Amino acid sequence: MFITFEGIEGSGKSTQVKLLKAALEKIHFDVESTREPGWGRVGSLIRKIILDYDDIEIEPITELSLFCADRAQHVQEFIKPKLSQGKIVLCDRFYDSTIAYQGYGRGLDPEMVKKLGFGAALGIIPTVTFLIDISVNTALSRIIERPGRNRIDDESFEFHSRVRKSYLSLHNKQPNRICLIDGEKDIDSVQSEIRRTLRNRFSIFKRLDKLG
Ligand code: TYD
Repeated sequence: MFITFEGIEGSGKSTQVKLLKAALEKIHFDVESTREPGWGRVGSLIRKIILDYDDIEIEPITELSLFCADRAQHVQEFIKPKLSQGKIVLCDRFYDSTIAYQGYGRGLDPEMVKKLGFGAALGIIPTVTFLIDISVNTALSRIIERPGRNRIDDESFEFHSRVRKSYLSLHNKQPNRICLIDGEKDIDSVQSEIRRTLRNRFSIFKRLDKLG
């Protein structure tokens, strides 16, 4: 089973991935967690180019291609093999990020972005996606204190608003796959909501009940 986490900067995805991994391991599931961009050697080189330099201009189409290259490598070398071993894979960002950021944030043709983004996923579709939604004001106030802010963190209020809007519209179009979670709540409440959704939707997760 492939579970992805999405949201604008500062939405708390990585904390939620960690908590869910720990909870699932407690009830003896075999879980791997990962993130995009930046898996493996190729991924970490690509991540550097995309995020680490504020003194180079990257064309939106170049940025899109780099995220797709990162994904293809990640899927082929890590995600696919882990899924075939029967593991649960939790991934912090996947192709919905590409649609939201490169499609609507950067303003590239959404149809082209969809084709390239899905193509790079090599046929892998998330079983379920948690969209952790916060307001842009909350996002900006959370990331202002973040050490090592990257090139995309530093984008404008309007950019982050377009990304958020795009995520919400993806949820509206695919409410079954993309579950909307209120990320303004405290960490434990967000985690409970995620577990409740998994318990209610998949019988294999009934045992999450025991953890409350
Ligand atoms: P990262 O430091 O991993 O932070 P976080 O995921 O916690 O926000 O930053 C990754 C950045 O890359 C983030 O700003 C979103 C962006 N991104 C895209 O623009 N397109 C993509 O396809 C992906 C996977 C990420």
